[in-house]
Amino acid sequence: MAHFEVHKILNKLLLLFPFLFLINCTFRNDEEIFAEEICNVEEVSFSGFVKPLVQSRCESCHNASLSSGNVNLQGYDNVKVYVENNRFLGSVRHDPGFTPMPFGQSRLPNCDILKIEKWINDGFPDN
Ligand code: HEC
Repeated sequence: MAHFEVHKILNKLLLLFPFLFLINCTFRNDEEIFAEEICNVEEVSFSGFVKPLVQSRCESCHNASLSSGNVNLQGYDNVKVYVENNRFLGSVRHDPGFTPMPFGQSRLPNCDILKIEKWINDGFPDN
């Protein structure tokens, strides 16, 4: 009799397994959505965000002495040229028709791209 009860409980547990997986996946999705939501694009300035990003992720290949693809991204005036001709956004978004940047590396995090878009949509101020 006791043996039979154990089997019933085990069977119920086995039935629950697929649901546990589903709950797990749903939870992960929520976390990802949450990560998107907490991307703060309210205060994006050139000196506070774009310049340090370009310095750390682009300038090693795009500076006054080494301008890969003939592109120098050192300082506002140089960055502005590539913002105005759309190549800056096209290359960091990996849009078709542009060489994906940073060259040979994975795409920048979505939040960084959202911030760049915000700064450009604001008229790319030198602030
Ligand atoms: C490891 C070196 C390297 C890094 C880092 C790098 N680039 Fe480049 N970039 C290149 C090379 C090489 C080319 C020329 C590619 C070609 O001509 O196909 C290039 C070309 C470009 C172009 C012209 C692309 C086009 O299709 O017109 C732009 C704009 C550009 N890079 C922007 C950036 C930005 C913005 C970053 C940082 C987010 C960056 N690059 C990081 C090496 C790099």
